[in-house]
Amino acid sequence: MTGSLEGKVAFITGAARGQGRSHAIRLAEEGADIIAVDVCAQIDTVRYPLATADDLAETVQQVRALGRRIVAREADVRDGETLRAAVAAGIEELGRLDIVLANAGIAPFNLKPRAGEWDDVIGVNLTGVYNTVEAALPTLIEQGDGGAIVLTGSTASLFGIGANTPGGIAYTAAKHGLVGLMRAYANYQAEHSIRVNAVLPSGVRTDMVTSREMQEYVQANEEQSRLLVNALPVDLLEPLDLSNAIAFLVSDAARYVTGVVMPVDAGFSIKH
Ligand SMILES: NC(=O)c1ccc[n+]([C@@H]2O[C@H](COP(=O)([O-])OP(=O)(O)OC[C@H]3O[C@@H](n4cnc5c(N)ncnc54)[C@H](O)[C@@H]3O)[C@@H](O)[C@H]2O)c1
Repeated sequence: MTGSLEGKVAFITGAARGQGRSHAIRLAEEGADIIAVDVCAQIDTVRYPLATADDLAETVQQVRALGRRIVAREADVRDGETLRAAVAAGIEELGRLDIVLANAGIAPFNLKPRAGEWDDVIGVNLTGVYNTVEAALPTLIEQGDGGAIVLTGSTASLFGIGANTPGGIAYTAAKHGLVGLMRAYANYQAEHSIRVNAVLPSGVRTDMVTSREMQEYVQANEEQSRLLVNALPVDLLEPLDLSNAIAFLVSDAARYVTGVVMPVDAGFSIKH
């Protein structure tokens, strides 16, 4: 059976684990080849462990097991030059680029705030998204046959929620900013048939949320956390729930969908 993304190449940040790995597998199932990027190193202000080189190798193995090609590179989305080099290496090997998923993100919600939280979160969750799109746009435009970009926001893209700490406030600000980026790119790139959309998840079962460090924060802030409840009777979405929404948004079935924010949040936003 032919997949909906046969012959396409997708560039995914934060692809070593969690939602990013799930997107790589889901899009590979539809026939896409993958350019996978992850920092694979710790950022000092983040207490929960970020992904490792072994995690990225596992993504590579799982995509190859589906018979698809994958180029994986370690790069920090804050570093535009290294990111551009990673994308160039992927395009060199895989021949083209069609899809971009700006998924990498951090959520340093720390009980004892650490110096630099604001800069790190804005750097990764906002500037990193800008760098990701910018690294891909010249090729998408030059190829001349359009493209599909999805930015991963959060329920904190629309509401003043997250955490009342420097890292938490920055998370909410960056995720709001991501919607602005999405709208501007959707507007300015439409003439090139490049579509740009955002998915906004509520809580997803990944290390960002399930780690011991994040659970400590949640338990110490029970009153705030009690407000973060979905309408549908489910506590946490699975990464695949987001991957399925993204697989639709980047497919030709969504060929005239651009500039939209798509909550994938089990009705969280309907309650706020
Ligand atoms: N898990 C949730 O509940 C939830 C809810 C809403 C939105 N989100 C967003 O979903 C996205 C994916 O997160 P996840 O849930 O898979 O968490 P995760 O921590 O498992 O995955 C994030 C990935 O991004 C990578 N990364 C972090 N900083 C990076 C950098 N500077 N450069 C390159 N890679 C970097 C990490 O190593 C990790 O592999 C993030 O943007 C996050 O903000 C998550």
